Parts: sequence; structure tokens; C-alpha cells
Amino acid sequence: MNKSMMAILVASGLMLSAPVMAQPAQPSLYQQLGGKDNIRSLMDDFVQRLKADSRIGEQFKNTDAARLASQLTDQVCEATGGPCKYVGLDMKAAHAGMNITKAHFNALVEVLQASMNAKGVPFDKQLEILSMLAPMHRDVITVR
Ligand code: HEM
Repeated sequence: MNKSMMAILVASGLMLSAPVMAQPAQPSLYQQLGGKDNIRSLMDDFVQRLKADSRIGEQFKNTDAARLASQLTDQVCEATGGPCKYVGLDMKAAHAGMNITKAHFNALVEVLQASMNAKGVPFDKQLEILSMLAPMHRDVITVR
């Protein structure tokens, strides 16, 4: 095979189908976040910040911090492809009767961003986590 033919094959992607060129599987977001211990450490920080937040802290004042951090860890671990199973309430039931507004939801997202910055989660991973959580607004926000 001459050089220009090789160039065409490579450019067209045909060479990539050869088994020797197989790429290792992409690590899951769970792996990229450093596994369960790192997620737990992020969630511990998050729950502390939630409790201290002037906008929404009141809603978490009676919350058992370790328990909520553990639930959030399982939820995020599972959703990012980790070996966990979230067995808590679904998001609608968990937030029923709390009168959660858009502003509350946005405040929680900002608090999570502060935790992710503090824990050194790279910005592109932050966006992946946030886009996973964003659709839950439909079940969490009950005051529109
Ligand atoms: C994407 C957004 C959210 C996610 C993923 C989320 C996730 C969770 C989870 C996993 C639980 C635990 C459920 C259980 O124990 O079975 C929970 C409970 C709770 N959430 Fe959320 N939540 C979100 C937004 C919010 C917002 C915006 C507020 C209010 C500002 C809020 C307030 C609470 C409170 C007060 C509890 C009860 C904690 C307790 O047990 O004392 N959440 N949430």
C-alpha cells in the first residue's frame, strides 16, 4: 500500500476498525470523579454549605447531614455509572410539600458549584453533573 492510500484510509476512518487500533473504553464519569469516597467527600461539603446558606439553609436545619450526604452520594454514584444503588425516595416524593421555588433550586445549584470548585472538580465534569441534575427540576420545584 502506498503512502497516499494509507492517508486516505486513515482519514476515512477505515483503519480505525482494525482490532489493533481499538481504543480502551472511556472511563465513566464516576471514575473521572475519583470514585465513591471522592463523591462522598463532595456531598459532605455540599450538605454543610446547604445548611449554612442564607437562602435555603433553613430548609435543611433539621436534616441529618450524614444521612443526606449518603443518599446524595448513592444517587450521584449510580447516575454517573458507579456501583451503587440509590434506594431513597424518588425526587417527587422527597420534595413534596416543601414549597420549593425556582429560586431555591438555583440557589442549591450555586451551592453545589461552590462545593465542586472547593473540591477541584474540573469545569467540564461540573457541567456533566449539572446537566444530569437539571431535568429533576420538574419533580423538585413545586411552586411555579
Ligand atoms: C436536582 C436537585 C435536587 C436533588 C438531586 C435532590 C436530592 C435529594 C435527595 C436524594 C434527598 C434524600 C431523599 C431521601 O432521604 O430519601 C433529598 C431530600 C431533601 N431535599 Fe433535595 N434535592 C434537590 C433539590 C432540592 C432543593 C432545591 C431543595 C430546597 C432548597 C431541597 C431540599 C431537600 C430537603 C429539605 C430534603 C430532606 C432532607 C432531610 O431528610 O431532612 N432539595 N433531596
